[in-house]
Amino acid sequence: MKKNVYMDAAASWLKPQSVVESMTDFLTNSYANAGRGVCERATRVDDLIANSRRVVADFIGAKPENIVFTSGATDGLNRVVNILSAQSWYNEKSTFAVSDLDHHSARLPWENLLRAGKIGKEFVCDLDENFNINIDSIPKTDFLIITAMSNVLGIPQDVESIICAARTKNPNVITVVDASQFVVHEKIDVKKWDCDFLVFSGHKIGADTGIGVLYIRDIEKYSPDKFGGGMINKILDNGNWILNNGPEKFEAGTLPITQIIGLPYAIDYLSKWNGGHDLIKYMYDELSKIQQIKILTSPDSCMLTFVIDGMHTLDFGALMGVHNICIRVGNMCASWIHKMLNLDGSIRMSVGPWNTMDDVKYVVETIRKIVK
Ligand SMILES: Cc1ncc(COP(=O)(O)O)c(C=O)c1O
Repeated sequence: MKKNVYMDAAASWLKPQSVVESMTDFLTNSYANAGRGVCERATRVDDLIANSRRVVADFIGAKPENIVFTSGATDGLNRVVNILSAQSWYNEKSTFAVSDLDHHSARLPWENLLRAGKIGKEFVCDLDENFNINIDSIPKTDFLIITAMSNVLGIPQDVESIICAARTKNPNVITVVDASQFVVHEKIDVKKWDCDFLVFSGHKIGADTGIGVLYIRDIEKYSPDKFGGGMINKILDNGNWILNNGPEKFEAGTLPITQIIGLPYAIDYLSKWNGGHDLIKYMYDELSKIQQIKILTSPDSCMLTFVIDGMHTLDFGALMGVHNICIRVGNMCASWIHKMLNLDGSIRMSVGPWNTMDDVKYVVETIRKIVK
């Protein structure tokens, strides 16, 4: 059989058998809605959801009552803005700060407010020569959006120091961390970081699509951005309502139950992975020897990103596809870092637990053939 190499883990992970089995078992043998029934079958689903919330909370150093299930990182990042809008936490005089490491989903919801004249000003924090956010460039601002690891460069940012610097300038700054790539490679500790909001997607760590995590530190402080079943405790005679406490307040409607049930299995599987640094390092060393290749990442980065002299990234991606190698090419929804590097796009290879040394040797050999 022809070799097929999936080396696009940073876009989405292949699913571990344990995740598939947990979801199949639930769908086949014990499916019911969550938070709706009182029979044993339904309450077992509630227990499973509560268990997933606990596992996620432990995973990032939080408490279960601060974990809201969303449909993914993009949903979470947009919802943060909507949650802040619900009670007008910002106005035309407010400011926000971003960096060129941001994925479109982290920055565009804020720039959209700016375009609509609903928020006053945007700051862009500087990056140093190693593409780390320059702590000295963090401004006094009302909101700070931090990409904890760029999906192009794969370098973990010092989130704790960044937030500490922002709080020194404005103790009331509201911080939003996009941990979509960071979560795959490094331990998150929301308490140590002292962030207000943090998001990631389940599908990038081996869970199914359609499930994401939104951590909210001061969860009782904020009002819901969505309304529906499961989030109201009582409608009063005078027409007012009493909301449920904690995450339920932000979880209107039926949750992606099956995906939530698979999530702890993904977290368990991820925690046993060595991170694939040996594979990235091997490719880095081999591709460094090819003259036409300009590598953008460092040898200890969590991914390998490069460009090729005289070859469009999309052409290269198509040629790799002919050899059954699946990688990411283009601007990767990270336009700002590409603009900063004066590039239209780049080529990214990212590995997961399914990748082997055999895979990377095949990939390097194929790249040599294409580039020669
Ligand atoms: C850094 C970063 N943030 C946000 C996202 C958006 O994730 P999703 O498409 O799962 O919502 C991605 C996806 O590539 C990402 O890499």
